[in-house]
Amino acid sequence: MKQPSALFLGNTRMEFESLDSTNRYARSILDSGTPEGTLILAHNQTAGKGLASNTWYAQPHKNLSFSLILYPRHLPGNQIFLLTCMVSLAMVKTVKNFFPEIPVQIKWPNDILINGKKICGILIENTWKSNQLHTSIIGIGVNLNTTEFPEELQAKASSLFLETSQETDSNAFINVFCSILEALYLQNRNNPRSDLKQHYLGALWKYQEWSRFEWDGAIQDGMIIGVDTGGKLAIQTRENAVKYFDLKEIVYH
Ligand code: BTN
Repeated sequence: MKQPSALFLGNTRMEFESLDSTNRYARSILDSGTPEGTLILAHNQTAGKGLASNTWYAQPHKNLSFSLILYPRHLPGNQIFLLTCMVSLAMVKTVKNFFPEIPVQIKWPNDILINGKKICGILIENTWKSNQLHTSIIGIGVNLNTTEFPEELQAKASSLFLETSQETDSNAFINVFCSILEALYLQNRNNPRSDLKQHYLGALWKYQEWSRFEWDGAIQDGMIIGVDTGGKLAIQTRENAVKYFDLKEIVYH
């Protein structure tokens, strides 16, 4: 198995037996000269934060819960969705590095699915200075060697272990992820026209397929045809209109 190493992502590592949330801890050290690429890892999270103010379930010592600190000041403020593209693609590529045959996809905006079940959640929290992106905390929760989920999550969540029957070494997984994300990050910094978005769309779950969604209080057909610069999901309707949705405005059925 190839295990490339990163130049700066994950080189400074802080490892904790238990934290309330690695994202929250990352935020608390942002203003104290913390180097870009610092990684904060917790073997147990007591109050993991999820998207849309949800909590994040993680089986202690079985899941991976970590945050990376980035200073993506080269990214124009209206291009921050590219960070979501990079991080999700890096996770897809990392899973494929360990399990090349496994079908892994991105559910907009940044859930990582295997066989339609979520194996990784990503929470990116940004700070701004004068309309310019200042810092980004990239929070990653991977159901790596998770053996069980609470009943309410069992239909939607899975783990790499449950999907492959193999345990994955957490350090090796983090190292591969950091080196892949770093390559995408530097590539985009040096060549902002890189085709990240196309690659993201290529890995997107239900892209260009008629599917059932709920919006405006009704269940209806739609087809994902893209994501706009701001990260809104573009859906074509049966009436040939195109509608754009934020996270809380649409539900997959
Ligand atoms: C989601 O709801 O899909 C996003 C989940 C993100 C969870 C990770 S675990 C590490 C980091 N610290 C947190 O508190 N949340 C993120």
